[in-house]
Formats: sequence, C-alpha cells, structure tokens
Amino acid sequence: MSRQAYRAALLHMLEDPTRAPAAEACAYHPDGLLVVEDGHVAAFGAHADLAPTLGADVAVTELPGRLITPGFVDAHVHYPQVDVIAAWGAQLLDWLVTHTFPAEQAFADRAHADAVAEVFLDQLLANGTTSALAFCTVHKASADALFEVALKRNMRLIAGKVLMDRGAPAGLTDTVETGRADTEALIRAWRGRGRLGYAVTPRFAVTSSDAQLAMAGEIAAAHPDVLVHTHMSENPDEIARVAELFPQARDYLDVYDRFGLVGPRSVFAHCVHSGEDALRRLAGAGASAAFCPSSNLLLGSGLFNLKQACRCGVNTALGTDVGGGGSFSLIHMMGEAYKVGQLRGDNLDPLHAFYLATLAGARALHIDDRVGNLAPGKEADFVVLDLAATPLLARRTRGARTLAETLFVLAILADDRAVERTYLMGELTHARDAP
Ligand code: GUN
Ligand code: ZN
Repeated sequence: MSRQAYRAALLHMLEDPTRAPAAEACAYHPDGLLVVEDGHVAAFGAHADLAPTLGADVAVTELPGRLITPGFVDAHVHYPQVDVIAAWGAQLLDWLVTHTFPAEQAFADRAHADAVAEVFLDQLLANGTTSALAFCTVHKASADALFEVALKRNMRLIAGKVLMDRGAPAGLTDTVETGRADTEALIRAWRGRGRLGYAVTPRFAVTSSDAQLAMAGEIAAAHPDVLVHTHMSENPDEIARVAELFPQARDYLDVYDRFGLVGPRSVFAHCVHSGEDALRRLAGAGASAAFCPSSNLLLGSGLFNLKQACRCGVNTALGTDVGGGGSFSLIHMMGEAYKVGQLRGDNLDPLHAFYLATLAGARALHIDDRVGNLAPGKEADFVVLDLAATPLLARRTRGARTLAETLFVLAILADDRAVERTYLMGELTHARDAP
C-alpha cells in the first residue's frame, strides 16, 4: 500500500455553483492536505485536521504558494488538429477545406498519427488536462494510435474515429458500412481498457448522409456505455447548409434527434446559435453542450449564451476545440469564456468557470464517478498550480483578497506556465521544471 500526502491550498467543486449555495458547491482549504493511496484520493481537507491522522511513515510534499485542483477536463478537442492551431483568416466551412481537411489527410500514415498522438497528450498534460473527449480522423488507425498512447500513459480519455461519408475530399471519407465496421471494431478493441472510453463521432450533419447518421444512432443504442460526440449550431453558413440538406428537420438538433443521437450520453460542441427551444430539448434529453470560447472567437462563429444554457438546464462544459481553438489550456478557456460573457453583458463568476473546466466536464463525459473533483475514493488526477509562475501573476495573486479573485487572476494571466505538475492516479506525469 503506497500513501503520499501533498500540503498546499486545495480547491475542488462538489456541485454546480449556479444551482447550490457556495458552501455546498465548492470546498477550499487555504492550508490543505491531499492524501493519495494506491492511485485514489484517501483524504482531502484542512492540514490541521488531517496531519495528525497520517502515519509517521508518510512523507508530506510541502508545496507553499501552490494551489492543488482536480485535473482539467477538455470536453471537446481534435487531436489531429495540433498543426492547424492559429490558421489565419477563415470561418468554419472555409477553414475546414483550406486548413483542416489537408492536415487530417496526413493521418492516413500511421507513423504520423503515432507521433501526433504523443505530442497531443504531452500538450494536454502540460496544460493540466487529465481527461478529454477527442475527435480522431476518419482513419481507423488514427484512433488506434491515440488509444494506444493514452493507455500507455493511463489517461482517462474518450475518443472516436470520425464518421464522414460526404462533403469531404475522397481520402477523408468512409461509407456507411466501413464506418460501422471500424467503429464496432474500435469499441471492441478499446472501450473499458485502462481508463479509456469510446464516443461514436459523426463529424457534423453536413458530412454524414442520412444512412450514416442512422447507423451512428444504431451503434449508440447497441452500446449504452459509449458517448455520442458531434458538432452543432456553430456557424450561420453551416446551419443554412444543414437546413438545405435536411429540409424535413425542424432544426439542427432535430436532425440528430431523428437518428437517435440525442440522449444523456451525447455531447454537442458549440450550440452557439441554438435557441431557447433547442436548449430546452437538449436539457430534457440530459445531453451536454461543450462551450468552446477560444474557437468561437477565432473562427468568428458567435457568442455562446452560457446564461441561457444554464437557465434552460443544459449541462455545459468547456472545450478547447483545438485546432479551431487557439490554446490547450482550460485555464485560458476560463478567461475566454469570461470575455464572451462580457460581450453579451454577462459576468461569468470565476468559481462557475472553474466548475465548467472540471466537474461539469466530467459530468458531460459521464466519468464524474471517477474524476472531476478530489472527493475520497476518486482517481487521483490532479494538478499543482504555481500562483507565482510569472512575475505579474505573482504580484497580482499576492494582492488578491478572495478565492474568486485569485481564480479570476489565474484565468486572465495564466495558462500552462502555471501548471507546475500534473498527476495521473497519483503518478507524476508532467513536471514543468523537469530538465
Ligand atoms: N465542424 C465540423 N468539423 C469541425 C471541426 O473540425 N472543428 C470545428 N470547430 N467545427 C467543426
Ligand atoms: Zn470541434
């Protein structure tokens, strides 16, 4: 039995702070102790309370000036788009054709997929992201490559091969039958191995035929433990194209609904232009939205209405949407989400932003029984944040008077520079200052 203890400020969320009083929604210990045993959280609390309960043989790692939080959860990201980040000048449909599809074609080469999978997971861990819901490409081997590396690193990761049988270059399309066979084979090969999960991943309604969307719905129904992961209502031209392609559908959400793709295990990236009615139907189905503020700003897609989504009861999480998004950092996404709110006249509370980046993501991915906070029994996926990572951050966090202010300063001034260490099941997997 191996025990480790870490002394630092500790913060995690227990509930959605828009639905529960602050005292119930979050737990914060300015001088805390996190005790980890056999990869799981054994205790999370005040140092003064827990220190006397530790055996004399347990070494305590002292981390003054540091904040320990659960690892972040990226609820929407594309691993093959590492090299698409910071593509200039295009909105969604152009951006796909000009930048993204060419980059994804390179994943026909398994060696390229293997190499990018390593870089992608390095980036997640360097940014303190310990779980993610990821798109692969249409190539089955692109998913094999990512799962293989994630298994080796023991990450709690959910991914899926893209389904796309029209509206894309020949080298990037599958068919109803190959999409079905590859998806079924990947589910058999990877679901439940280590900490891996599978998501049936039709890219969006523009690039799948009716028959392929129906097939995706059949697979999701046959495997109740898999997720459904797709894009929805991101960009006005995209939405117009979907209305042309599916004239019988009441709206974009209805396209997915007709094919059995809207349920509690569905995660819809963006939902920027989903109105009150669609948001209420999403909430009624128990589905989740992934708010991707950096991508929505960079691609000029629009301003997600987080307040409305919350009011309608939609579980909303945060996604980087790399490569549409410009950073792998969920800390940075908290700041970007705040800026989107400002442009709508809403003030996003820093604790709510932190909830979106941690427990809400775990809930969207249905892994909140394992991760998302550091309650005893959970898997010990956590990060050590350095509140003095830069001179300006040090100065500004020193002057912060409240936890909310400290979190907000982090969201605006910090990113991977503040992620000093990342742990997966109690094992150190990234150290910022390692030689
Ligand atoms: N819609 C369909 N494909 C994509 C993609 O790769 N990125 C984003 N942001 N939106 C999409
Ligand atoms: Zn995306």
